[in-house]
Amino acid sequence: MRLLSLRLIISLIVGITLVSAGFSYYQMLSEKRALRIDLERRSEMLGESLAGYIERALDAGADQGLPQLVQQFSNREHLLGVAIYNPEGGVVTMTPQLGKTLSATPAEVTKAMAQSREESSFVKLETMPVHILALPIRQQDEVVGGVAVVHDAGYIREQSLLVWRKNFFPVLAQVVLIAFITLLIVRWSIAGPIARAALWMHGLRTGKISFRQEVPDLEIFRPLASEVATMAESLSHARNAAENEARLREAAESVWTADRLAVQLRTRLDGGHVFVVSNREPYQHERDGKELKVVVPPSGLVTALEPVLDACDGTWIAHGSGTADREVVDTQDRLRVPPADPRYSLRRVWLSKKEEEGYYYGFANEGLWPLCHIAHTRPLFRAEDWQCYQEVNRKFTDAVIEEIEHVEKPVVLVQDYHFALLPRLIKEKRPDARVAIFWHIPWPNPEAFGICPWQRQLVDGLLGADLIGFHIQSHCNNFLETVDRVVESRVDWEHFSAVRQEHRTIVRPFPISVAFPADDGEQDNPHGFNYHERVALLRSVGVEAIFMGVGVDRVDYTKGILERFKAIERFLEKCPSYQGKFTFVQIGAPSRTHIKRYHDLLAEVESESERINWRFQSGKWKPIVFLKRQHSHREIEPYYRAADLCLVTSLHDGMNLVAKEFLAARNDEQGVLILSRFTGAARELRDALLVNPYDVEQTADAIRAALEMEPEDKRLRMQRMRRVIKEHNIYRWAGNLITELCELRLEVPEEAQEKRRAGAFV
Ligand code: G6P
Repeated sequence: MRLLSLRLIISLIVGITLVSAGFSYYQMLSEKRALRIDLERRSEMLGESLAGYIERALDAGADQGLPQLVQQFSNREHLLGVAIYNPEGGVVTMTPQLGKTLSATPAEVTKAMAQSREESSFVKLETMPVHILALPIRQQDEVVGGVAVVHDAGYIREQSLLVWRKNFFPVLAQVVLIAFITLLIVRWSIAGPIARAALWMHGLRTGKISFRQEVPDLEIFRPLASEVATMAESLSHARNAAENEARLREAAESVWTADRLAVQLRTRLDGGHVFVVSNREPYQHERDGKELKVVVPPSGLVTALEPVLDACDGTWIAHGSGTADREVVDTQDRLRVPPADPRYSLRRVWLSKKEEEGYYYGFANEGLWPLCHIAHTRPLFRAEDWQCYQEVNRKFTDAVIEEIEHVEKPVVLVQDYHFALLPRLIKEKRPDARVAIFWHIPWPNPEAFGICPWQRQLVDGLLGADLIGFHIQSHCNNFLETVDRVVESRVDWEHFSAVRQEHRTIVRPFPISVAFPADDGEQDNPHGFNYHERVALLRSVGVEAIFMGVGVDRVDYTKGILERFKAIERFLEKCPSYQGKFTFVQIGAPSRTHIKRYHDLLAEVESESERINWRFQSGKWKPIVFLKRQHSHREIEPYYRAADLCLVTSLHDGMNLVAKEFLAARNDEQGVLILSRFTGAARELRDALLVNPYDVEQTADAIRAALEMEPEDKRLRMQRMRRVIKEHNIYRWAGNLITELCELRLEVPEEAQEKRRAGAFV
């Protein structure tokens, strides 16, 4: 830094000095030129009038008066004197002062008489700079002599030097001042932030500071800070991954990590590319006034599938639903994501209002969603919704086909009930693509599914896939039973597959999970929340309590939120000693509110919490805090970590990741999970307190049991459940799904292969 300041200052001084010296020199030359012109002009006037007088005196024959005449002219500013010469160059008369300096006849005089015209020049007499003007003296057009006017020109040099001094020295002083001020600016505005940035980066590099921590104010280096923070994040992840790998090797364990998934995939894919299709996009662009915001929908899918797409620079195809989504795509409706560190492509598919209404709100969420979740909400099947669903599935197929056009061995992972028709539609055009669909919601028994008027088309669409994944075995069984009943096919129960039109579809359970934190020590508080922190968290939402429960859900009728509230009410009735002490925080993200059932449910959840609060609340305590908005993972984490218990009371749920997120957050090995037996998660998490959410009494008792459970019992249960999700994490889910898909034998009919080679499919 010191060297930089020195270099900067020296360059400044040399540069500005050179410029100001040049400028002063130019000023001096101008002054000199002006003074010379002025002197020549004055000398000319004097010489001409003197020559005139002499000529008139000679005409009048009064040549004796010439010495007096010369004398009269001698008293002028800077004039050394005047002299009159005869035609031979001899002095006729001369002012006495001039006689001392001018010994010989000046060449100018001789020249002026010889050429009969005025001559002038600046010369030096010995060391004295003078200006000599010589004029011929004429009588009847004949040169009869000459006159010389000699001025002292020494003052011109002095005055020019004065101008130089006047200009140069003040500028020099300014240079010194500017250099000094620059030095101060460099110190304050550059050296300070650089030092702070260096300290911060050092902290990041050595791991003393977390990249999650606030970035210091780096002033002019602010744009660099976010880049460095992203770099530090990658570095930290790489470091953690390497440490984990080493630890795992050491312990001979085989826990899946994002890096292990990436390595495994590169081998399995053998240069192939992965294409993910989902309705919800991983990054949404929203306009907020002039600002463009990137919103990440809180979904476990992004965590699972990003490492997959990273590993092969894949493409995610999804509905572009953000208000500013169109502003950031290229001409092919693509953009690179994640926005801060682009590693794969996102292809956005645009839907009209009518399409979104019929396909997403209508058929998918008012038809298939209640059809597959046995939660006693009637599915609505409208022919126009079905029409839209088919059209949108075709639209997405076109996008997929476009994306895989020049790709050999493409691997397509279709997500969820929005795209039941996609596998068959893709396979019809690209039989060489490996296609899997993961059904994230339950598959009901054939009788329940049978009420859908288009069950045959849906099942047929799904059977286009090479692999169909569900969360649990019973959903696989229900699906194969449905296949058996509704379409012409051969179900192979031994290998869990179905063969339709000579195409085999494998059906397997892949229980989805969360990314178990690789390094618990990295969390803000590895030892859990203490009593005071919990009290502070509750105070921040406006209550005073000692015990706390938490629930986190989209406000959806399948989640059993109302049943949960009833159980809390019953618990407070049965155990009045907890009144004034136990508060339940319900984080509820409004969801699909455009659908009346969801809109009404949101109002019902609100009024139910108000009713229960009104009944019990006293002073600063109330039993339920309903936080009605979407919360980020980061915002939810403190509630998970502070809670004595987490309530998951879904009436029916494919898996339920809230249960697993709660466990992943509890590295203090405390807290109790109360879990509905109707969730997929209940199959894996046998150490939770399993409840039937319709049984209010049972759930109320579970709340009490959780609050009064011995710490050692809590620890043991928590340890066992955490071990399960550590091993069965989201990376394992993605790894197993893709490995299974890549390993199955793809029977591409020879005719189709020929067509592909000839480019006939596209
Ligand atoms: C369920 C579905 C997902 C869906 C999510 C959020 O988990 O299985 O496919 O993305 O709900 O619902 P939304 O309608 O907001 O995408």
